[in-house]
Amino acid sequence: MKNILVTGGAGYIGSHTLIELVKAGFNPVVYDNLSNSSVIAIDRVENIVNQKIDFIKGDVLDKDLLKQTFKTHNFFAVIHFAGLKAVGESVKEPLKYYQNNVAGTLNLLEVMSEFGVQNLVFSSSATVYGSPKSLPIFEHFPRSCTNPYGQSKLMVEYILEDLCKSKAFNAISLRYFNPIGAYQTGTIGEDPKDIPNNLMPYISQVAVGKLQKLSVFGDDYDTIDGTGVRDYIHIIDLAKGHLKALEYLVKGDKDNHIIGFEPINLGTGSGTSVLQLVNAFEKATGQNVPYVIVSRRAGDIASCYASCDKAKSLLNWQAQFDITRACLDTWRWQKNNPMGYQS
Ligand code: NAD
Ligand code: UD1
Repeated sequence: MKNILVTGGAGYIGSHTLIELVKAGFNPVVYDNLSNSSVIAIDRVENIVNQKIDFIKGDVLDKDLLKQTFKTHNFFAVIHFAGLKAVGESVKEPLKYYQNNVAGTLNLLEVMSEFGVQNLVFSSSATVYGSPKSLPIFEHFPRSCTNPYGQSKLMVEYILEDLCKSKAFNAISLRYFNPIGAYQTGTIGEDPKDIPNNLMPYISQVAVGKLQKLSVFGDDYDTIDGTGVRDYIHIIDLAKGHLKALEYLVKGDKDNHIIGFEPINLGTGSGTSVLQLVNAFEKATGQNVPYVIVSRRAGDIASCYASCDKAKSLLNWQAQFDITRACLDTWRWQKNNPMGYQS
């Protein structure tokens, strides 16, 4: 059984990925400082997989604890989810983001190097494509970012590219599009600490009565109905993408093949507008989602969706679940846990 260090494993994407890892026979070891998550998520994952999950409360900025963790486990690979992700906050507190996301990753890479661990799966984002010139977005498209959060992801990608050029190192940079949904049990899901920045948790909190109405940021984009279009991917599909990436690393290891830096989009390949998502949610759940159109949000682009050809050809992965399923799963989680993990 291969040990996998999962930094940020108590978070939204990490907790769902733990299930897929355990189901596939990997042994995940979670390393999370719980700055944006709850240990209850780990308890709930344990209930789903009917197995204990190793959990270490730790910060990737704490190099000594990282070293201690590597000393006591023989890791095959690291899945590095740990990071801060609020775009607005990153503009107000850029140093916090560079420290956590960039310096934290540097620490991790140094410790991996010291202990001879050469396989990494990194949580990157479609945000590294900035404002794409055409759609769908392919991995070779130019990269640029306009906010410190995005810059921190881009900087880590550059660091990984240089590292892979300098020595035998495998870094799969998974560029997520827009993850939504929850595990089908309705016991784990996305649990934003404050008012949600992202669309789907906002919609579900309106539906459950926590928030009054959704503000739709602009209806004058050049899109099907004037509202922003994104590529919403079900969290279980996203989690399975990580498993496929790990399996690719295992195969590379067996074949003695160095993969190097490999950026891969994880999306569905199709776009959904804000109003289409609102309508799909209402239809799937029977809940009302009142909304008001307001002005555009600074930094938003009109449309964004992935080409998923590379994930299909390299990892044999493609998304299975549709928007309706994601709405149903989101609603089950929200309805059963109106206050998130504090419910
Ligand atoms: P999340 O906040 O739910 O999970 C991140 C986890 O990392 C949290 O549990 C948090 O406590 C932990 N963490 C943060 N800083 C840490 C540190 N210094 N040391 C240890 N643990 C730390 O976010 P998520 O949605 O699960 O995202 C996971 C990763 O994917 C992040 O790196 C994020 O930037 C990236 N990403 C997310 C999205 C998205 O829409 N959710 C999109 C693209 C990329
Ligand atoms: C946002 C971030 C991106 C980050 C991603 C995941 C910005 C500019 N981009 O992406 O860097 O990687 O989240 O964390 O913040 N919308 C509304 N009302 C809302 C919320 C959103 O109309 O209350 C609209 C947006 O204008 C957009 C769509 O819904 O058209 C999706 O928004 P969101 O969920 O925030 O994702 P992104 O903007 O794609």
